[in-house]
Amino acid sequence: MEVIIRPNTEVATELASQLIAEKISQKPFLCLGLATGRTMEKVYNKLVNLHKSGALDFSLVRTYNLDEYIGLSPDDPNSYRHYMNEHLFNKINIDLRNTHLPMGMADNLEDECHLYEESIKNNGGIDLQLLGIGRSGHIGFNEPLSALQSRTRDKALTPVTVAQNSPMFDPPESMPKRAITMGVGTILEADQIIMLVTGKEKAGILAKAIEGPISSMISATALQLHPKCTIIIDEDAAADLQCCDYYKWIFDNEPKWEPYR
Ligand code: F6R
Repeated sequence: MEVIIRPNTEVATELASQLIAEKISQKPFLCLGLATGRTMEKVYNKLVNLHKSGALDFSLVRTYNLDEYIGLSPDDPNSYRHYMNEHLFNKINIDLRNTHLPMGMADNLEDECHLYEESIKNNGGIDLQLLGIGRSGHIGFNEPLSALQSRTRDKALTPVTVAQNSPMFDPPESMPKRAITMGVGTILEADQIIMLVTGKEKAGILAKAIEGPISSMISATALQLHPKCTIIIDEDAAADLQCCDYYKWIFDNEPKWEPYR
């Protein structure tokens, strides 16, 4: 695990976006795992700008999102399909047939989860997975007690997650309480992972995720098991880390990060 602390949200987001853009340039048919949420909006904004400037071609890129609310249709303004179309897909030259999210309206959720796993596998697996962290410590919607080997399935959301996301619903009580999510095991199979975390409200849970013991109570701790996981954070999110100076020292003395300074 590699922890990169940048001075503020803007610089942290810029670095995450550059790393994604670089991977797409290296492998134009990249299979990209995507997340939603407030943190990712800024990343997608930057990727859209790079595309508009002519620096980024998505024509061959394939994507798999982490999750979708159960009971919301793809054109519901609160669905993650709608979020992705609005924030990224409709603004770049991606082929929508190459973009995948679980179907929250599927008649048979178990079949839908199984098909999603099969589809990822048949596409050769995820090359790069983008992640945020929820206040409950979730990655995707892997709430506390998600098995560290879990696969795509439906999951009940915790009150902490409902409190985090319900302000985006009108009325807030209409937020679904269940979602389909890739499992922790599914996420860990990605070749590479980038997690982006910003803001002081994430500092406590982030410190537990990075420096605490691995536990299904905080699914993000499973990232400690991944051989190629980069966690990019701003100073506010880094506030509770014990080894902050060590992580900064590594970044400042590691030549491979030269292009991003
Ligand atoms: C959503 C997802 C979640 C979010 C997390 C942080 O697809 O994967 O794990 O990344 O809830 O959300 P924000 O950025 O809104 O704080």
